[in-house]
Amino acid sequence: MAEETEQKTVDTGLGRPPGKGTGKARRHLRGRQTDPTALAEVQAVLGPGQRRRDELIEYLHALQDQFGHLSTAHLAALAWDMRLPQAEVFEIATFYHAFDVVPDDAEAPGTVTVRVCDSLTCEVMGGRAVLDDLLSRYGTDVRILPAACMGRCDSAPVASVNRDYIGGATVDRVAAAIDGGLSADPAPESIGLAAYRQTGGYALLQDCSAGRRTMDGVIDALDAAGIRGLGGAGFPTGRKWRSVRAEPAPRLMAVNADESEPGTFKDRWYLERDPHRFIEGMLIAAWAIEAEAIYIYLRTEYPHLHGSLGKALDDVRAAGLFDLPVVIRRGAGAYICGEESAMLESLEGKRGLPRHKPPYPSQVGLFGRPTLINNVETLYWVRDAVTDPAPFLADGRHGHKGQRSFSVSGRVRSPGVKLAPAGITVRELIDDYCDGMQDGHSLAAFLPGGASGGVFPAKMADTPLDFGTFEPHGGFIGSAAIIVLSAQDPITDTVSNLLRFFKHESCGQCTPCRSGTEKAVALLERGDWDAEVLGDLATVMADASICGLGQAAASPLRCAFKYFPEDLP
Ligand SMILES: Cc1cc2nc3c(=O)[nH]c(=O)nc-3n(C[C@H](O)[C@H](O)[C@H](O)COP(=O)(O)O)c2cc1C
Ligand code: SF4
Ligand code: FES
Repeated sequence: MAEETEQKTVDTGLGRPPGKGTGKARRHLRGRQTDPTALAEVQAVLGPGQRRRDELIEYLHALQDQFGHLSTAHLAALAWDMRLPQAEVFEIATFYHAFDVVPDDAEAPGTVTVRVCDSLTCEVMGGRAVLDDLLSRYGTDVRILPAACMGRCDSAPVASVNRDYIGGATVDRVAAAIDGGLSADPAPESIGLAAYRQTGGYALLQDCSAGRRTMDGVIDALDAAGIRGLGGAGFPTGRKWRSVRAEPAPRLMAVNADESEPGTFKDRWYLERDPHRFIEGMLIAAWAIEAEAIYIYLRTEYPHLHGSLGKALDDVRAAGLFDLPVVIRRGAGAYICGEESAMLESLEGKRGLPRHKPPYPSQVGLFGRPTLINNVETLYWVRDAVTDPAPFLADGRHGHKGQRSFSVSGRVRSPGVKLAPAGITVRELIDDYCDGMQDGHSLAAFLPGGASGGVFPAKMADTPLDFGTFEPHGGFIGSAAIIVLSAQDPITDTVSNLLRFFKHESCGQCTPCRSGTEKAVALLERGDWDAEVLGDLATVMADASICGLGQAAASPLRCAFKYFPEDLP
């Protein structure tokens, strides 16, 4: 019987099942057998050549791009093709929200999928109504789903129709996109290579490559300018580069372009408008730590940047400005992959489960190598910090120094990325940079650091915005995503929205976060705002979660009880 099975697999082109070559290997795989048609389709999409384990997520993207979803037959065939256990491939495909895994007995989704953002800014700006109205207009004719922040909060509410993103979404605009009469919002004009070079662009990189600058000199300049990580943690950039360089070669670099914190869109903003400033900073960082390769982890919700960044890199390479391998990898819709160690797991083709630290990525990072991880915006400022540090050293406001890129969204007249003095207050930011509050709205609450940084009442809108200023109050500015709320946005809705987000995005690895967010959402959905029970949950999540997601999930609850007790049921 076993002989027969093996003969059949060989006959159908599946070859000999994997084994150690001793002749004693199992002659057919347990469980689901590989369908030869599905295998041929997988091989046609992925092309010839050896499969790389770390490219598994890219292969899943390629199959989904081709077929519109991932069938179990294709997943099983991919597992065969990569000589991986089927369970592993299924587990990874189902971890990521961007992949549509369709079981055998289920119907494949149609050719159009609409997603409507249900994260905080979009919800307050009417996203819920757009979602409900679309569902009632289309019923089951079109697949319509809620989705987490799409990184375009400045044009909330936002929806996507397949890979086209539409800001200021209304039912009619989404319907026009479904009918093919409206395409994605156009990207803003971008500074190309020639224009960038005309203003001195890439001169610093050339100075570095030609030995006219020393690695220590460049790192000292970053220290002097006070550059800190802008992905959220604010770690001093020069110190990070120095610590990676002190580790043994070969060293790698990974760029965090995952940008999925609700309310944050500055990395997209800068990559769209001035990609070469980022690329130059990235190449200088790679030079400073003598990286052997660079991996850019770009969120999949920025498909336009995948193309434009790839083209910009090609232009720079063709101009002879670098010859290092640079790989752009797409994320797959999991917020947790912005956490640096989860990002490394994802780059290795695995589920994005944060690693225990230490060891830190600077010691044991991507593929076990010392790895420098920086956020897009951190790298964007490298050239300026070294060649023109004055704005970084200038007085900000209220005794703070330098400048920050605030992603401002919500109830203001002019949302967007505002490059403003560090230490500016929310009230000043709204009045001086955002043309004030929208008509009919008065400031009631705000979030200084996206979903993770806490929620504060209007009476705290005169607190300076900078690293360290909100920590004593139970928050932080993180990636400087300022979400502005008005008296028309009940705090109970805000906290529920944030907890739903954390529940949805929890990777499930540790119990305090997985069960804590689940329990909190269940209580809030019942309208049960028991201070003692929710307070206990918040303490467990904050104290015992492995990573920043579970720790941050506690802060909306704590802020609600501390700052808005009179608004709770
Ligand atoms: C839950 C969570 C999500 C995060 N998301 C991002 C992100 O989307 N982009 C980012 O650059 N950093 C993010 N970070 C911070 C990274 O872990 C890391 O600190 C950063 O990429 C380091 O780069 P930097 O020093 O240049 O800021 C996140 C952290 C946590 C805990
Ligand atoms: S805190 Fe949450 S997201 Fe972080 S490792 Fe634990 S379960 Fe995963
Ligand atoms: S795009 Fe909707 S909240 Fe960010």
